Amino acid sequence: MRLSVIGCGYLGAVHAASMAQLGHEVIGIDVDLKKVDALRAGRAPFYEPGLPELLTEVGATGRLTFSTDIADAAGADVHFICVGTPQVHGEFRADLTFVNAAVEALVPHLRPGDVVAGKSTVPVGTAEAIAEAISATGAVLVWNPEFLREGFAVEDTLHPDRLVYGLPTDDDGEPTAEGSKARSVLDEVYATPLSEDTPLVVTDYATAQLVKVAANSFLATKISFINAMAELCESTGADVTRLADAIGYDARIGRRFLNAGLGFGGGCLPKDIRAFMARAGELGVSDALSFLREVDSINMRRRVRMVDLAREVCHGSIVGKRIAVLGAAFKPDSDDVRDSPALSVAAQMQLQGAHVTVTDPQAVANARAKWPDLHFADTALEAAKDADVVLLATEWTEYCEIEPDALAAVVAHRRILDGRNVLKPAHWRAAGWTYRALGRP
Ligand code: UDX
Repeated sequence: MRLSVIGCGYLGAVHAASMAQLGHEVIGIDVDLKKVDALRAGRAPFYEPGLPELLTEVGATGRLTFSTDIADAAGADVHFICVGTPQVHGEFRADLTFVNAAVEALVPHLRPGDVVAGKSTVPVGTAEAIAEAISATGAVLVWNPEFLREGFAVEDTLHPDRLVYGLPTDDDGEPTAEGSKARSVLDEVYATPLSEDTPLVVTDYATAQLVKVAANSFLATKISFINAMAELCESTGADVTRLADAIGYDARIGRRFLNAGLGFGGGCLPKDIRAFMARAGELGVSDALSFLREVDSINMRRRVRMVDLAREVCHGSIVGKRIAVLGAAFKPDSDDVRDSPALSVAAQMQLQGAHVTVTDPQAVANARAKWPDLHFADTALEAAKDADVVLLATEWTEYCEIEPDALAAVVAHRRILDGRNVLKPAHWRAAGWTYRALGRP
């Protein structure tokens, strides 16, 4: 099929390349010429494992092209909307500027029967407004949320754990005739994953939009739940990692997303739960989501607690102390520093008078652009040179595997803060280190 993908960020670039891999002819559209030039040259504009290889592979087939001109999307059977919906500065709600601009630019190029598939994470009600905006063209809107995780984006797109279609429905809640037709078109787009028995949920617009924010709210709640338990562990001498193991054996709870530490960050979870709360307020049901305020607070408290812990191991003050921070990305296998707990703690310590040196295998350039006043190093050993404290803030494999003796050779004081609960305390203590972590004795 012929597809267009509007917006080539973390979501769109991976979606475009993956759809071409599935055999479709794809044009990716983005207003950022630098991004488009990189993608045209087969280079990923951000770090995402597997994406460079995929771009090379599909680039050779000629099925994947990129443009800054939305007119080039004309003639595609399906147009995927993949632009960002960041948080409005100083407010909780989502900024729909890019979504609205994409739809407005697309409208003149739509033909009757074309399918517009919304993938961006939006406040519920947005799909209904877009459907209205495109209705005169005869094109049909399907809401088709995306659940990819950075670091696993290619795998998640080619082999999703579920597909969701939100279709236009009639007064009985049944898909309209044009909705059913649009569904068959999407079935053709996703023929390969559907043939691999990927579960498909067909529903209405409102449900499809809510699925995404509900899923992210649940994940955020799970992380904040275990981080709240970490606070209890800290005041009782219990170990949150053992607690998580023990409750995680209950299949109803499950061990995944129960890793206590610096908490969640990134371009999705924090802003999605806030936008969800803002939307609930607009709908007059803010009480239903008041717990998310607590989820957010627990999450942000972990960052404050980590700065306090640094102060504790420095006997009351971090002023003038050299602190090495291993990790700047919001999670490993990503160069994304949006709302990164690692970077936020690093910046806070620097603002409070410490001399902070940050390192990251992929995210230094992005981190430097955001916090130019921090110091940066290429490797963990360089960052840790003469350090009074070392903080492991993002659990890149190479930091998890670091040997206490190797680090001991360069630091001024053997003090390690494990912000992700990934190191073996006994191993570090045996090598003469003061080991501290969130939620562990
Ligand atoms: C998330 C959702 O997982 C994905 O389905 C959605 O499409 C987009 O948002 P992503 O932002 O890539 O994906 O990251 P995710 O793997 O969910 O991690 C989010 C944050 O939570 C990271 O900062 C991570 O370090 C943190 N986290 C995760 C924890 O602190 N503890 C955990 O147990 C798991």
